[in-house]
Amino acid sequence: MRACNVKQGTPVYSGKAKSLYRTDKEGELLVAFRDDITAFDGGKKDVLTEKGSLNAKVSARLFSLLEEHHIRTHFIRLIDNSSMLVRELEMIPLEVIVRNIAAGSMVRNYPISEGTPLDPPVIVIDYKDDSLHDPMLNDDLILAMKILSNDELVRMKELALRINIVLSRFFEARGIILVDFKLEFGKYGGDILVGDEISMDSMRLWDAKTKGSLDKDVYRFEKGDVLAVYRQVTDKVLKKGETL
Ligand code: C5P
Repeated sequence: MRACNVKQGTPVYSGKAKSLYRTDKEGELLVAFRDDITAFDGGKKDVLTEKGSLNAKVSARLFSLLEEHHIRTHFIRLIDNSSMLVRELEMIPLEVIVRNIAAGSMVRNYPISEGTPLDPPVIVIDYKDDSLHDPMLNDDLILAMKILSNDELVRMKELALRINIVLSRFFEARGIILVDFKLEFGKYGGDILVGDEISMDSMRLWDAKTKGSLDKDVYRFEKGDVLAVYRQVTDKVLKKGETL
């Protein structure tokens, strides 16, 4: 039994950094954010005490922010420091990446320099399958594989761009640039909701002044104390009384 009378039931799924459990309520699941951190398709792994709770708190705040902007998410509430209660979605096996500035795999795979502004933002959609190394899709492939209908695909991309505007403004007000981020969506009663997490593991964030990394790149490329950076972002995200 966890706090707030939510019973942690049978495991549903365990990913690289989160575990999903049934609860005693039909249609509601418990997401436990673990302290595991991985990079490079699981090739680099560590356990960092507190990391799970930092990502849970940031995800909870950002899901709430989206709800405040009438964008529906799976988030119901935090149960304790590192777990949240969510609506059970029929997950869409896609990773929707929105890029505002060229970085990461975009500059590794294509002839474009890191730091190039992308206006309009670039949406990249990957097929979520570790065994296939999450290959990039295009609209035709998504329709051919019958992952989504054309209307659903249009709606999902519209949502991704709206979320980008809300999150970019939120971070800008805190001296942070939202370089890119990854979303996962799920179907819920005819609607498409944001699922999974929105955290320092799934966003690329740069300090607006120094352009230093404030995200998992600190871990990927051993740029410093990743926990200190995650704490710094969490403090800024949770700070009250700022715009947005
Ligand atoms: O590695 P890449 O540059 O393609 O990543 C783009 C963004 O998507 C980054 O913010 C990264 O953290 C996120 N991402 C993720 N999970 C993946 C792939 C990328 O959260 N499986």
